Amino acid sequence: MTVRMGGSTRSSREPRAVSVPRDDNATPDPCASYAADGRDRMASPVEHAAMRRALELAASVPGRVSPNPRVGCVLLDATGTGIGEGAHRGAGTVHAEVDALGAAGAAARGATAVVTLEPCSHTGRTGACTDALIAAGVARVVFAMTDPDPVAAGGADVLRNSGIGVEGGVLAADAAALNCRWAFSIERARPFVTWKVAATLDGRSAAVDGTSTWITGPDARHDVHRLRAQADAIVVGTGTVLADDPRLNVRDRMDAPLPFRHQPLRVVVGTRDLPDTARVWDDAADTVQIRTHDVRAVLQALSDLGVRHAWLEGGPRLAGAFVAAGLVDEVVAYLAPALLGDGRAALAAAGVETLAGRHRLAFTDVTRLGADVRLTARPLTAEVG
Ligand SMILES: NC(=O)c1ccc[n+]([C@@H]2O[C@H](COP(=O)([O-])OP(=O)(O)OC[C@H]3O[C@@H](n4cnc5c(N)ncnc54)[C@H](OP(=O)(O)O)[C@@H]3O)[C@@H](O)[C@H]2O)c1
Repeated sequence: MTVRMGGSTRSSREPRAVSVPRDDNATPDPCASYAADGRDRMASPVEHAAMRRALELAASVPGRVSPNPRVGCVLLDATGTGIGEGAHRGAGTVHAEVDALGAAGAAARGATAVVTLEPCSHTGRTGACTDALIAAGVARVVFAMTDPDPVAAGGADVLRNSGIGVEGGVLAADAAALNCRWAFSIERARPFVTWKVAATLDGRSAAVDGTSTWITGPDARHDVHRLRAQADAIVVGTGTVLADDPRLNVRDRMDAPLPFRHQPLRVVVGTRDLPDTARVWDDAADTVQIRTHDVRAVLQALSDLGVRHAWLEGGPRLAGAFVAAGLVDEVVAYLAPALLGDGRAALAAAGVETLAGRHRLAFTDVTRLGADVRLTARPLTAEVG
């Protein structure tokens, strides 16, 4: 496997203020079954309200924070009054607890920290949050979701051992839903994979002559960009690049690309050379070509690049290989009310010889988008091999 890097250089870009597409037509959480138990623990109504606020803070950070989770924190004084708020804004930036402690200053002594994820107990690019909470003299910590990352987990015990009162599991299901793909990626040691497809009602992604733009209408296409923006990488095979020369970036309704720092990584999989003039090499976003047919190796390479959520846009052959390997965790299908008859199937060989061997899924959402519909489904069957 070889990897060619291209596109622009992120570090050379100045961050700019930007409005990211709002999640105004949110797909219901595809990982609901993955959420923690959600039982309400021994937390006061004020602490519950603070946890809701902390979840809001975590969700309100624009753009992506991968490879890290979204985390929010609220500090309460002894009367239950908020004295500091914080959120994590991405790798290399302070964690939510430290952000909130900074806002509270000396008032943090004796406070309760309400945080959406178990405070980390390890030193990575930033220091351990448990150390910061202990040093600030926090008296109590209420957290939502236990950290699934074995490297960072164990913070609750560290805090308890230093005499801090700790309560976990408060609004845990909400916190898990906020970070479900991140948690999935940590636990499976690979990115969560969404396969997106646009097709006619008879499952065709192109006509007999190969024409395929546009199958769906503007609302569906805008929705694709909105969801692309939430993923860490947009993945296609060389066949799609050679046939369509797609830009594979995130654009607004006016067709203007979002700023560089909000663009997912573009990933092209396959061994054929791509022309240097291919639009995926433009400077709108970073691009890698992964020269392999081994889909597990692709996911390993993506993990190494910090990708937690891969948005697989096809084409039919690459998507079929992922489906065959049981490596599609969610399908987002945009269906247009049109029929093509003969034409290109949306999915090529997917390792199925007979009906009994079909890949079975369950719908988790059906949404109308203009004249089209968006169907979201999750597999019922487990990963192969
Ligand atoms: N409607 C939609 O949603 C949609 C989305 C995307 C594409 N499309 C259409 O799909 C058509 C292209 O179809 P396609 O099937 O050639 O595209 P593709 O799946 O994007 O590319 C196929 C190529 O992927 C590479 N590849 C890497 N791993 C593979 C594996 N395990 N199995 C098979 N191939 C692997 C191979 O490249 P190498 O030969 O270079 O090794 C293969 O030739 C275009 O006409 C495009 O318009 C439609």
